[in-house]
Amino acid sequence: MASQVGKRRPRMTAATAFDLVRAAIAEKGRITFAEFMEIALYAPGAGYYTAAPHLRGENSDPTARHSGGSRNPEIALQTGPPHDYYTAPHLHAVFGAYIARHVAQVWRDLGEPQHFDVVEMGAGRGILAWDILRSLRETAPRCWERTRYRMIDRGAGPSAEQQEALVAVAAHPIITAQSLTEPVLGMVLSNELLDALPAHRVRVKNGKLQELYVTAQGERLCEVYGDPSCPELTDYVERLGRPPEGWQGEVCLAAVAWLESVARALTKGTVLTIDYGATWAELCSARWVEGTLACYFRHRVSRDPFARVGAQDITAHVNFSALVNYGEAVGLSTVSMQAQAEYLVGLGIGEELAALAHQPPTAETQRAKRAITDLIWPDGLGGFRVLVQEKCTGR
Ligand SMILES: C[S@@+](CC[C@H](N)C(=O)[O-])C[C@H]1O[C@@H](n2cnc3c(N)ncnc32)[C@H](O)[C@@H]1O
Repeated sequence: MASQVGKRRPRMTAATAFDLVRAAIAEKGRITFAEFMEIALYAPGAGYYTAAPHLRGENSDPTARHSGGSRNPEIALQTGPPHDYYTAPHLHAVFGAYIARHVAQVWRDLGEPQHFDVVEMGAGRGILAWDILRSLRETAPRCWERTRYRMIDRGAGPSAEQQEALVAVAAHPIITAQSLTEPVLGMVLSNELLDALPAHRVRVKNGKLQELYVTAQGERLCEVYGDPSCPELTDYVERLGRPPEGWQGEVCLAAVAWLESVARALTKGTVLTIDYGATWAELCSARWVEGTLACYFRHRVSRDPFARVGAQDITAHVNFSALVNYGEAVGLSTVSMQAQAEYLVGLGIGEELAALAHQPPTAETQRAKRAITDLIWPDGLGGFRVLVQEKCTGR
C-alpha cells in the first residue's frame, strides 16, 4: 500500500528472527535457505531490515555520510562507525548527482513527458533519493519539475526527519510504498537491492542438482542437502548453463520475480540496476566454486549465516546473466552492462575529477576527489556492475 512521505508505518512486535526460524523448522522439518534468509532479513519487526533502526545502529540524518566497510566482500574489512556496511550513496552526493544525469537523459529520450516517474526500489533511508532530487533541481530543473519520485522499500524506510528532508527537495509529494503496484512511465532504479533478496543455495553433486536446506540439531541450525524444492531451480540452471561438478552457489529466483514485476509495471522507459555481481559463467568459475554468500556485522564479513540471525546482513552476488536472459523474455532489451567505473565515466565523472585536481584543496574538494576515486576504483565500488535495460513500447 502506498503512502505519502510524512506518515510513519506501524511496527509489530514479534519473536526474534531466530525463534521464527526455529518455529518454521519445527513445523516443516527443514526450510530452504531462501526461506531462512527471508525470515532473517525481513520477518516483520524482527528481521535485519525490518527491525527498529536503532537496533541496526542507524543514523537518522538523511544527509549523513559514512566511512567504513562496503557490502562487497572484496572490500569489506575496513573499520568505521558502528554500522554494518556502506553503499555508494553513503560515500558522497556525487554518486546521486551522476545517476541524476542519467535520469534526465531518460526523461529527454522519452520526449520530456509532463509526468515522469522515477521509482527507486530498495530505497532504504532515502539518501540516494535526496541526492538525485537535489541534483536534478540544480542541473535539470525542467525534468525535476516533472519528476514524481517513488521510494519502494519493504524495510523500515526513512525516519520522520529523513522524510522531512526529502519533502524539501522534491517538486511533488514523494510516495513511499513496500511494493511496486502502480504503472511506471520513466525509470526504475536500484542500488544494492538484488544482492539482499532471499536466495536458494544449490550444488552439483554426482551430476545432479541438489538444494541446501536449513534444519536444526538441538539449539543449533545446520545444513542438509536434498532434491530441489521447486522445478524453477532446475529450469534456471538449465537455461543459463549447468555449473561444473562440485560447484555450489546461489540461485536467486526472487531477483527474477522482481525483474518480471518491474517489467510488468513499466509501460515505457529504463531499468537501471547497480549491484555487485557477475555473469553466470563467472559465478560458475573456479573463483566462486563455493558460492558468494557473505554476512556482514559491524564491518566484518563472515560466511556463517547462522550467527546473529536477524542482527547481521546476509547477501549473495547478483547473477547479471539471469537479469539479461529473463529480462529479454519479458520485453526488457539490454542497453548496456558495464562496470560502475565505466558507467560513471560515461556520464562525465572523469571530467569532474580532472577539474577538482585544479581547484584549491579545501576539505570539500578533497572529500569529493576521494569519493570519486572510490566510486571508480576497479577493485572496489568501481567494479560493481551496472545493467541498463529498456522497454520501448507503450504496451
Ligand atoms: C542493502 S540495502 C540497500 C539500500 C540502498 N539502496 C543503498 O544503496 O544504500 C537493500 C534494501 O532493499 C530493501 N528491499 C529488500 N527487498 C525488497 C523488495 N522486494 N522491494 C523493495 N525493497 C526491498 C531492504 O529493505 C533494504 O533497505
